[in-house]
Amino acid sequence: MNNIINILLNYQKLINNKNSDFYQKKEIPIWIMRQAGRYLPEYREIRSKVDNFLDLCYNPKLASEITLQPIKRFNLDAAIIFSDILTIPDALGLKVEFLKNHGPKIEKIDKDFNLSKLNINNIDIKLSNVFEAISITKQKLPKDKALIGFSGSPFTLACYMIEGGGSKNFELVKRNIFQNSVFFKNLIDILIEAVTLYLIRQIEAGAEVLKLFDSWSGILPSNEFFYYVINSNARIVNNIKNKYPNIPIICFPRNCGVMIEDFAKNVPCDGLAIDQNFSVNWVANNLQDKYNRVVQGNLDNYLLAFGSKDQIEKATKNIIDNLGKKPFIFNLGHGILPETPIENVEFLLKIVKNY
Ligand code: CP3
Repeated sequence: MNNIINILLNYQKLINNKNSDFYQKKEIPIWIMRQAGRYLPEYREIRSKVDNFLDLCYNPKLASEITLQPIKRFNLDAAIIFSDILTIPDALGLKVEFLKNHGPKIEKIDKDFNLSKLNINNIDIKLSNVFEAISITKQKLPKDKALIGFSGSPFTLACYMIEGGGSKNFELVKRNIFQNSVFFKNLIDILIEAVTLYLIRQIEAGAEVLKLFDSWSGILPSNEFFYYVINSNARIVNNIKNKYPNIPIICFPRNCGVMIEDFAKNVPCDGLAIDQNFSVNWVANNLQDKYNRVVQGNLDNYLLAFGSKDQIEKATKNIIDNLGKKPFIFNLGHGILPETPIENVEFLLKIVKNY
């Protein structure tokens, strides 16, 4: 069984049997958030031939080829399907564009928007090419690598749909949370259904692990964090576990700080992805020891791009010294930056695999 899947599904058994092969070998699996992307020349080459980013995501042959690029180049333990979290608002009928040097632009919605226009049933048709990309990739991927499917979490998707893109302070989101909470809650409920369906279809197409990205969870006060982040991630995880109990799920409530304790207590996911703001000592004492959770993380993506070899080595070893006493999954704290030198990635892999 792939190491990542084994750790996620059998964590308790593994830590109860310290004499097992697994514990003796202590091989640390690694994959990299946004590992298929602009830091790779082979990605940039394909990207330059297609104007619209979403056309790449919806081209099963190209999406599969891009998914496999980092696997061919590096000895990573998992492939994550090449797509984007904004396929959901697109499938639900909102216009989504990726403008050059500007980031995504989404047709904005507000309290006057008729939410019944967001049709969940479009997911099967509109995103069928994503599912096909997963099937093609599954056939081509070496059997010892895990294939990861993913979705944005409801709160983060709602942020993009309400702000119409990224935002500095998420003022529109906060206005809606506090002034139009019925609208906001109804939107979240629709997204819970949509994300559940999307992930179930990804499993049926061949995804072996799922990741839920809640990239903007860190902007919420604790009360709202409970309602919009913990509740909605928990509902999705439960929905999927009811149908597919053996598909491991990693949740990423990014930048949520100490709220991750409440997240860990209340969301029955198999793995917690942690951002670079956590001290790994705290993570080991709390998430690994106290809450008994598999963690994935958390090298700073800017350090990997701009740090010296020496700095990368120190930071990587510090993570492994603290988190590697138990089975864990190495990753960055956020997506790899386009500026990252390939040789830094190679250097990182060498340390993780040989330390
Ligand atoms: O390799 C992989 O990890 C799979 C592909 C992947 C992409 N986006 C491809 C992509 C994944 C998992 C994502 C997730 C995603 N997309 C998130 C959650 C993770 C996070 O970073 O917090 C978010 C918030 C998005 C939304 C998004 N997509 C933004 C804000 C942008 C523009 C910023 C940027 O990095 O360019 C994108 C575009 C995007 N998604 C690109 C890629 C490779 C670059 C677009 C291009 O090549 O022109």
